[in-house]
Amino acid sequence: MATNRTFTMLKPDAVANGYIGGILKMINEAGFRIVAMKYTQLTKDAAGKFYEVHKERPFYGELVDYMSSGPIVAAILEKENAVADFRTLIGATDPTKADEGTIRKIYAKSIAANAVHGSDSDENAQIEGDFYFSKLERF
Ligand code: RTP
Ligand code: MG
Repeated sequence: MATNRTFTMLKPDAVANGYIGGILKMINEAGFRIVAMKYTQLTKDAAGKFYEVHKERPFYGELVDYMSSGPIVAAILEKENAVADFRTLIGATDPTKADEGTIRKIYAKSIAANAVHGSDSDENAQIEGDFYFSKLERF
């Protein structure tokens, strides 16, 4: 079932570089409503669990170290066709391949430090949102 919700994290590079405001402005202007939001830092264990699907990939260790290296902003976003539209808004994983005007094209430095996460399916959006937020934290 399509939920019209997706999950995002503004990654450590985006936070450290002062891009929280700029990225949230783009998210708001693209028509997403914020359902839940949290400023927090993943432990290495939590990052490992969040990215467990990538466990076998060569960049897993680097990814876990990176995602636990500094604070992030986690959020649940709502909009019709949220998962696909948000992936369009953020652009390709590698910022050098991202379309003009996308969040990663504007704010990302590299394939590893690529500013923002976006869920890749309704199912994962649900799982990822549940990882961070209780029912009482959703509005
Ligand atoms: P995300 O899950 O963060 O939204 O990114 P994505 O779907 O566009 O890319 P995915 O394949 O799910 O990879 C997850 C994150 O792993 C890092 N990565 N590093 N060094 C590398 O070659 C490499 N490839 C991927 C990126 O931070 C990517 O966003
Ligand atoms: Mg992904």
